[in-house]
Amino acid sequence: MQVTKQTSDSTTLRFVVNSERKLDARPGQFLTFSFLFDGKKETRCYSICSSPARSGYVEITPKRVKDGCVSVFLNDRAAIGMTVEATGPFGQFCLTPEDKKIVLLAAGSGITPMMAMLRYLDDLCLDTQATLLYCVRTRDDMTFRQEFEELRGRLKNFQYHVLLSKPDADWPGARGHISREFISKNVPEIEGRVFFLCGPPPFMEAVRRILTEMEVAPERIRQETFGGAGVGPKPPLLRTAETGFTIEFASSGKTAALLEGQSLLEAAAAAGVDIPSACRQGQCGTCKTRLLAGYVHMTAEQGLDPESRARGFVLTCVGHATGNVRLDA
Ligand SMILES: Cc1cc2nc3c(=O)[nH]c(=O)nc-3n(C[C@H](O)[C@H](O)[C@H](O)COP(=O)(O)OP(=O)(O)OC[C@H]3O[C@@H](n4cnc5c(N)ncnc54)[C@H](O)[C@@H]3O)c2cc1C
Ligand code: FES
Repeated sequence: MQVTKQTSDSTTLRFVVNSERKLDARPGQFLTFSFLFDGKKETRCYSICSSPARSGYVEITPKRVKDGCVSVFLNDRAAIGMTVEATGPFGQFCLTPEDKKIVLLAAGSGITPMMAMLRYLDDLCLDTQATLLYCVRTRDDMTFRQEFEELRGRLKNFQYHVLLSKPDADWPGARGHISREFISKNVPEIEGRVFFLCGPPPFMEAVRRILTEMEVAPERIRQETFGGAGVGPKPPLLRTAETGFTIEFASSGKTAALLEGQSLLEAAAAAGVDIPSACRQGQCGTCKTRLLAGYVHMTAEQGLDPESRARGFVLTCVGHATGNVRLDA
């Protein structure tokens, strides 16, 4: 294992893959890790930021989240010798062989899957046209800064542009927040490009709106969500929005009212029933729970393996009841 400080609040951890396991990831995918510390097991997803062409090790770069549990542990206490369990790879946010012209739009920790893509292009000497637009607060918040410079020297079709929202007085580059002007200036030719978006929800909403205004077709936009505000248990909706359905947790002996728009995972959290979760977007399978009665509509199903599906499991993070339901939780 290797631990490398990237910035004051992000650290790259390199794990050697157990030689009996074969890691076969695509650039941009993530793993779901189980970390054991302080007598607890915590499960979280992290995008692979190393090149998937190097299957002997895997790197992740967790950014410290204020008052966060795992990200603070990994930044402050992860040490050489630590072993972890991981499942995956998961995710549809990846580079495919057909993507010959790409634009990577990253903000903050959203740079990690982009790094995997660029390292992969470099390892395989691919001539993909890649433009990275990287938005961060200050120069010191730039992760992989040195490596981008090196890549610019090596990859003839790679360009990158940084936009700082809180630059120092000497910053020679662009300043401000993501805008149509910044994108158009640095990506003059949008025809045939595939756009990859990863960053906090407000950043992705802004970029999506701009790309739509620029008439980029939805099928040429791919995005990854890391969580944060808007993901995870939300406060219950107004009582008037109740659907009238109930959810029964058979093992816990609890029953609760299901609120409109609430996922089964959110309903469980509100009722004090613990269902482990990680990606909260239907990709990793951590939250799968057996449905004992009723019908559930899932908005994504990639995280459900055929055997679990056949045994009646559902993904609670993206599962919504269409009537009264009973879960084995
Ligand atoms: C597919 C996927 C890939 C990911 N890849 C990366 C990665 O490469 N690097 C990385 O740093 N993180 C990544 N994450 C986020 C990561 O899984 C954790 O959510 C994050 O490290 C916070 O965990 P925590 O235990 O420290 O915070 P928690 O203790 O779970 O949460 C503490 C507080 O922070 C908020 N919070 C949780 N997650 C975020 C977030 N991402 N941004 C802002 N606020 C948050 C919570 O709402 C809560 O209020 C990824 C998530 C997903 C789903
Ligand atoms: S938490 Fe990953 S599929 Fe539900």
